[in-house]
Amino acid sequence: MPEQQVLPINLSQRLLRQISQDGPMSVAHYMTLCLLDPRHGYYPTRDPIGAGADFITAPEISQIFGELIGICLANCWQAMGKPKTTQLVELGPGKGTMMSDILRTAHSIPEFCKSLQVHLIEASAALIAVQAKTLGGFPQTINWTDALNDTGSGPLLLVANEYLDCLPVRQFVRQKDFWFERLIALSDTDELQFTLSTTPLAETELKLIPPALRQAPDNTLAEIRSGLAGFFEPLAERAKNDPVMALFIDYGSAKSEAGDSLQAVSKHQKVDPLKRSGEVDLTAQVDFAELSRIANQAGLLTSNIVTQGSWLQQMGLLERAAALSSGQTGARAKIARQVHRLSDDSEMGKLFKVMAVYSKGLEEPTGFDV
Ligand SMILES: C[S@@+](CC[C@H](N)C(=O)[O-])C[C@H]1O[C@@H](n2cnc3c(N)ncnc32)[C@H](O)[C@@H]1O
Repeated sequence: MPEQQVLPINLSQRLLRQISQDGPMSVAHYMTLCLLDPRHGYYPTRDPIGAGADFITAPEISQIFGELIGICLANCWQAMGKPKTTQLVELGPGKGTMMSDILRTAHSIPEFCKSLQVHLIEASAALIAVQAKTLGGFPQTINWTDALNDTGSGPLLLVANEYLDCLPVRQFVRQKDFWFERLIALSDTDELQFTLSTTPLAETELKLIPPALRQAPDNTLAEIRSGLAGFFEPLAERAKNDPVMALFIDYGSAKSEAGDSLQAVSKHQKVDPLKRSGEVDLTAQVDFAELSRIANQAGLLTSNIVTQGSWLQQMGLLERAAALSSGQTGARAKIARQVHRLSDDSEMGKLFKVMAVYSKGLEEPTGFDV
């Protein structure tokens, strides 16, 4: 009788099998499997956002966050000459809360509201179902798609909050003037562990390392998001014919910094990124300097990189909070707590950055004074 094959039952078991067959895998490959594997990946199998889930994001803290994004987009639409049709794209919309706050805000500018065609780019079937429910009451048709190229034509407004941090990073460690890739291998006891590639990065691939880190001392760790160059190409292509304005908000640094920022979170606590693969959130911080450099290289303009706290305040956070508080009895303290969480240096205010990427011919939007 032929031996029956035992099917692996979770991602950790599949990874064990794959690494023992094929050898160590890159951190980027590991992140992709853990986050996006259709059967066992983190995002396709759950809604991880909320106080009772794994993590909370700015739009879930306060409606003001999405409202101020909505005001910024309306200003950009005006600067584009109030086009009759505008493609509004969100990358990684989570529960759809930010888009719902944007559309509600847009409602007060009927011409803007009427011009919007909404596209959501979302990898998680579980979250698409939540988004459909959140956005079901709006007059706009909501389209879900996998690619920016499928988001119609004409003027484009794009927003992405905490999307780039989910995109996989490769990690490299400098040793004796060479860069070696940090990989994930198996220990003697079949646990996942980090190791280094046996051969260094080829001369031709050195351009992957951010210029500011190329000559760093031994044991420096550099992270790169190799998908970013390809990411800006469709935006740059579009910007040749139509105005494009993209807003990125994420946790990260305004300057390229060395160091391992791969982080796993479960139930609002940091956990080991090599344990419970596919069951915990995995992210790495965004290097906004590098993001700006790559966007510029593709032919796009970029704004100053400002902290979330500064951007929100420049966009009218305190004024909106005061207006909301005065309309709701007993809400003042709650709204003050939300404002603190979004904008204080000790919370999200300093760690999170905001940057706009836009086509030539447009001006830097408001909110980016340093
Ligand atoms: C950290 S959540 C942020 C959600 C939302 N923007 C918010 O602020 O609440 C990341 C979002 O990006 C989605 N996502 C992650 N990787 C993706 C990918 N490669 N393509 C499309 N969506 C992705 C996730 O499913 C999720 O909706």
